[in-house]
Amino acid sequence: MAARPPVPLGRFLLLLAQEHLEFRLPVSAPRAGGGGAAFASLIFFLFQSPFWILNIPSEEMARRIMKRTVCAKSIFELWGHGRSAGELYASLKNYPMDKMLPYLQPDSTYKIRIHTFNKTLTQAQKIKKIDALEFLPFNGKVNLKNPEHVFWILEDYGMDPNNVPEEPFDLYFGRWIADGQRELIESYSVKKRHFIGNTSMDACLSFIMANHGRVKPNDIVYDPFVGTGGLLISSAHFGAYVCGTDIDYNTIHGLGKASRKNQKWRGPDENIRANLRQYGLEKYYLDALVSDSSRPVWRKGMLFDAIITDPPYGIREATRRTGSQKESVKSAERSTENHIFISSNYHLSDIFFDLLKFAAEYLVMGGRLVYWLPIYRPEYTEEIIPRHPCLKLISNCEQMLSSHTSRRLITMEKVKEYKDQDQNSYLLDDQYMPYRGHNSFREKYFSGVTKRIAKEEKDNQK
Ligand SMILES: C[S@@+](CC[C@H](N)C(=O)[O-])C[C@H]1O[C@@H](n2cnc3c(N)ncnc32)[C@H](O)[C@@H]1O
Repeated sequence: MAARPPVPLGRFLLLLAQEHLEFRLPVSAPRAGGGGAAFASLIFFLFQSPFWILNIPSEEMARRIMKRTVCAKSIFELWGHGRSAGELYASLKNYPMDKMLPYLQPDSTYKIRIHTFNKTLTQAQKIKKIDALEFLPFNGKVNLKNPEHVFWILEDYGMDPNNVPEEPFDLYFGRWIADGQRELIESYSVKKRHFIGNTSMDACLSFIMANHGRVKPNDIVYDPFVGTGGLLISSAHFGAYVCGTDIDYNTIHGLGKASRKNQKWRGPDENIRANLRQYGLEKYYLDALVSDSSRPVWRKGMLFDAIITDPPYGIREATRRTGSQKESVKSAERSTENHIFISSNYHLSDIFFDLLKFAAEYLVMGGRLVYWLPIYRPEYTEEIIPRHPCLKLISNCEQMLSSHTSRRLITMEKVKEYKDQDQNSYLLDDQYMPYRGHNSFREKYFSGVTKRIAKEEKDNQK
C-alpha cells in the first residue's frame, strides 16, 4: 500500500502566558474535536520562552486549541521571523505572496499591533516599527476599531528583567488567528465563588487538569475526593456531566464552618450544586455522595471518561478512611457530624495505589486519570510515581509548593482492559517498596526539615 502523503503543515506562533510553565506543553495538545496527535510536531521549543513556533496542519485546528487552552494568550499565522529587524524583513519578503494576498485586498480593513516581552516601547518607537513594514503590499484600509485582519509585530527581549537588551533577541510578524481562554481564570475565580473550602482548586489549574483529562462534551467525569467540587466546574464548562464523592459529610452537605474569613458558618445554599448553578452549569451536575474512596461504591463496569482529582496530602485536610465501629471508638474520632465511622489515617501511598487501581477498573478505554501527587523534592525520582499495568503515564508536571516540596500533576491513560482482579498498582523500582515517602510527606512538610535544608543551602552559597 502506498504511504499516505504527509499533511502539509502551516507555521504558527503561539504566545503563551508566563505562568505554570511546565503545564503548557501537554495542555497545548488537547484532543478536543480530534486531530490533536498531528499537532505534536513541534519544530522550535524554547521551554521558558512565551513564544513557541509550531507546525499545525490547519488554521481550524489552531482555533480549536485556542478554544480550550488557558495557558496561551494568542495564536498567529507566522509570516516572518528573524534575530534582527533585517532578518525579519528578509523572512517576510520570502513568505509566499499567494498566502499573504487574501488578507491584503483593497476592499479589506486591517490594523497592525505590537507586543513586546520584557520591554516597554514608546508610542513613537512603535509607529517607527510599523512604518518600517511599508514594503508589504497592504492594499486595504486601516481601521483601528473593528478591522477584519489584525497583524502583529512581536518582539522578545529575553527573560532577564535586570538585563534588557537594546534590540530584541527575536522578532516575529504574523496574522492574528485567535485568543486563548485566559478570561476563564477571572470569571471562574475562587475569590468570587459561592461555596469554597480550604483546599478549593484554583480556577486556572482546574482548567489545565480538565485539558489534561481531554474532557469533552457528554463525557462523564468523576472526582473521588470532590471537596467543594472545584474540579467538577471546569469539566462541566467543557460540557461533561460531573459527579463526585467525599468522605466528609459536612462538605458534601454544605454544613459546618465556613472557609471565608468574615463568615462563621456555611450558609443555607453553600454546596456543589449551587457552585455549578452560579456558572450556569447545573444541568451537568449528576450528584455528589458521602463515600470513602478506599471502599468504592460503584457497580462493576467502565463508567467514567475521566477521573480528575486532588487527593488529600494531609496538610490542610486529613487523610482518612472509614473503619469499623470498634476501630473508630479506639481512635476516638467518631463524631455525630461525620455520620460514618472515621478510622485511622489513610496512608498517602495507599491513597494513590487505590486511586490507580480504581481508575484502571472504572475508566473507559482511552479514558484519563489526572491527579496531584505531593512530592518531597530531595527524595524525588521518577520511580516513585505509582504505576498500573492498565495505565500509561502521559505526563508528569511539577508545581513548586516550597523550596523542598512540590506537587506533580500526573496524567495517565487507560490502555489495557482491567480483567484480572489481582492487577495492582506498583512502583517501577522494587527498592521503593513499601514506599514510605508519600506517607511521610506531612511530617516532612511540618518538621522544619525543609526550612533547615534551605538555610544550609543559602549559607553554602555565601
Ligand atoms: C484536597 S481536598 C479536595 C479539594 C477539591 N478539589 C476542591 O476543589 O474543593 C481533598 C478532599 O479529600 C477528602 N477525603 C479525604 N480522605 C478521603 C477518603 N478516604 N475518601 C474520600 N474523600 C476523602 C477530604 O475530605 C477533602 O475534601
